[in-house]
Amino acid sequence: MATITCIDDLKQLYRRRVPRMFYDYAESGSWTEQTFRENVSDFSRIHLRQRVAVDMTNRSTATTMLGQDVAMPVALAPVGLTGMQSADGEIKAARAAERFGVPFTLSTMSICSIEDVAEHVSKPFWFQIYALNDDDFNRRIIDRAKAAGCSALVITVDLQILGQRHKDLKNGLSAPPKFTLPVLLDLATKWRWGFEMLGTKRRFFGNIVGHVEGVSDPSSLSAWTAEKFDPALNWDRIRRLMDMWGGKVVLKGVLDVEDAERAAEIGADAIVVSNHGGRQLDGAPSSIRMLRPIVDAVGNKTEVWMDSGIRSGQDVLKAVAMGARGVMIGRAYVYGLGAMGEAGVTRALEIIHKELDTTMALCGERRVTELGRHNLLVPRGFS
Ligand code: FNR
Repeated sequence: MATITCIDDLKQLYRRRVPRMFYDYAESGSWTEQTFRENVSDFSRIHLRQRVAVDMTNRSTATTMLGQDVAMPVALAPVGLTGMQSADGEIKAARAAERFGVPFTLSTMSICSIEDVAEHVSKPFWFQIYALNDDDFNRRIIDRAKAAGCSALVITVDLQILGQRHKDLKNGLSAPPKFTLPVLLDLATKWRWGFEMLGTKRRFFGNIVGHVEGVSDPSSLSAWTAEKFDPALNWDRIRRLMDMWGGKVVLKGVLDVEDAERAAEIGADAIVVSNHGGRQLDGAPSSIRMLRPIVDAVGNKTEVWMDSGIRSGQDVLKAVAMGARGVMIGRAYVYGLGAMGEAGVTRALEIIHKELDTTMALCGERRVTELGRHNLLVPRGFS
């Protein structure tokens, strides 16, 4: 554990321990992966103002997201198939987040169900829904999230149709995997993953399989999802989902000022400036590049968060200083989960927290809530 000092260390270990198919599923973007790469590289174009001779005692990274106290302005993003990165992965990630004091978001496309996760945590978590064109399903899953005590609904609005990821097609991605010769050869060196996976008692895709007519096992799921993702999604349908929920709502996947204005207008409690980690519209700008104009447009009407490309506490600081109330992390915690299960998610959070705290101090700030644009040197093109 002592040799794991940054998120990249977790990624290297993750790569060695998890089947290639699931590593590639996470570590990829759509088409040329330009947006996927720029999400990360654009952070390094923003510089920090180093300050000296400032009292740096009694620092705090604590703040709130959606009115909820958080140990740092970081939430775990919804990630589909998390339970294929490590057996019962959603439960492990939710528990690590709860112990650390940051929110966890469960994806509709999770392996463990809402109820499986609720059974293993004591505080409310958030539930993410795709706006599917089946109101009966939407209503039932929203009711299940309410019954499980979820405290916010995250509606993902940037996946009406799927951005193509070449690696998934080439690998024949499926959960559980089909045991072809390349998969078996890969598994020969990753037997620990297989062994743990065999030990799980969960029903795969527990939010959907067994809850929808005609979908009784994972193999019948892809036809159902292909049919249900809603190419006709519009703001009225989003509004309808918000009404069905009736509680705090986060709209995730907004990357344009006009869309952000619309999201604020219909009453989103928070929006996530996001391009889905570069997995949807390749060629779209990085999220950090779009953050500032969106904060300027709607930051006084709704909480503005961002995700896509966060790999360190320094990235968190830059996003918050640029005006984000908080950030979501996807891959950064998935690397930890695949590398070392629950302990790996905790390690990812510890690394990010320490980096955030130290960077804050070296910028001459004691409170995360006092960060601002005065801490940054931002190149042209970011505003
Ligand atoms: C995702 N993301 C995602 N988003 C969502 O709303 N529902 C989902 O089921 C998924 N699934 C998913 C799987 C994988 C493997 C990844 C990497 C991402 C997007 C996710 O919530 C978040 O927007 C990005 O992961 C943020 O980018 P970084 O932090 O991974 O760079």
